[in-house]
Amino acid sequence: MPEIRVNIIRHEDLSYNIYICDSEFGSTLNQVIQSIKPTSLVVVTDSVVSKLHLRTLLDILPKEIKTLTVQIPSGEEYKVRKTKEYIEDRILEFGMDRKGLIIALGGGVIGDVTGFVASTYMRGVSFIQVPTTLLAMIDSSIGGKVAVDTPFGKNMIGAFYQPKAVIMNIDFLNTLPVEHVRNGLAEVIKHAIISDEEFFYFLLNNKDEVINLNKEKLVKVIETSCMIKKKVVENDEKESGFRKVLNFGHTVGHAIESVSGYKILHGFAVSVGMVIESKISARMGILSSEDFEKIQKVLALYGLPTNLREVRLKPNVMNDMVKFMRGDKKSISGEIYMSLPKKIGGMIDTFSVLIEESLIVSVLKEHF
Ligand SMILES: NC(=O)c1ccc[n+]([C@@H]2O[C@H](COP(=O)([O-])OP(=O)(O)OC[C@H]3O[C@@H](n4cnc5c(N)ncnc54)[C@H](O)[C@@H]3O)[C@@H](O)[C@H]2O)c1
Repeated sequence: MPEIRVNIIRHEDLSYNIYICDSEFGSTLNQVIQSIKPTSLVVVTDSVVSKLHLRTLLDILPKEIKTLTVQIPSGEEYKVRKTKEYIEDRILEFGMDRKGLIIALGGGVIGDVTGFVASTYMRGVSFIQVPTTLLAMIDSSIGGKVAVDTPFGKNMIGAFYQPKAVIMNIDFLNTLPVEHVRNGLAEVIKHAIISDEEFFYFLLNNKDEVINLNKEKLVKVIETSCMIKKKVVENDEKESGFRKVLNFGHTVGHAIESVSGYKILHGFAVSVGMVIESKISARMGILSSEDFEKIQKVLALYGLPTNLREVRLKPNVMNDMVKFMRGDKKSISGEIYMSLPKKIGGMIDTFSVLIEESLIVSVLKEHF
């Protein structure tokens, strides 16, 4: 049979800037829009963010460019295919062409679903992330993973699609409920544990100012955390190796989210996940028990849960948790792999390692 090879070598530069702003947010956003020269603009936001920050954004946008706002209800349950279709239909009715620009104004839910819309609308249009939660600022807006959830699991349908820019206004965080600040801080702490010991001690020593969003400390937290995520995704855009380190705490964390019916915040589940995975690392002789204690201490200091009781799970969910881990995207042929820390500020060299189920079960039992 004849064999034909289609060679596609991508030369496109997909680089983009992350802007951490306060008062200069408007001018920065405008400059970026002017450089893209879109034929029209679409702002996608949710029902909570629209009441708080949409006006600020709309007042900034260039008046001469035709603009549509699409609003969806707030909440993870709307990060689904139906919502993607709804947004697409509104944009199609509006008549945006391939040179249009979509702006995602909101948390990770808005960023993920809007980025996915942008990746497929007319086979891909430009989009800008304007993250409004701490989690979105330091994590979900960077790296180009866009997706929706399905009844078969979270983020099961999606793409890798990079934004043209990430532009944040840290003043937007002033309206964020404290539990969502903590939710974002769980991922901040994860970033410190996986690659920056000094940042870890900064977090340990500046808890009050960080949690109260002291501007100077907040900028350091966001900047350092974005730098860590940026370096990881630059090294491994499509998660073939190094990017797996970002999964620290997530093998157990995703299982917790699943058995709790996704009723607890992601960062809270990851917090317990980090404690359990660190304990597994210590049991395997990889992480020292002193470093394990410090990891547990910093999470508790920020009011994050460190055991399964605190997230209201009972021992009868243990089998379901293990079953979930076996079927998770991170497992290979039903065997459970984890990305483990070898010290504060450093992960194991292989990025992820096979874990004996008996060890997982015994450590889980200690955390109910
Ligand atoms: N793409 C990635 O790489 C990546 C990484 C991590 C998480 N995620 C995804 O991110 C999502 C979670 O993100 P999230 O925690 O931002 O959730 P979210 O988008 O649901 O926002 C949390 C809540 O805060 C509200 N909100 C947003 N900004 C606000 C503000 N400034 N003031 C007051 N309220 C505000 C929202 O309306 C919502 O009710 C999940 O779907 C997760 O899968 C994606």
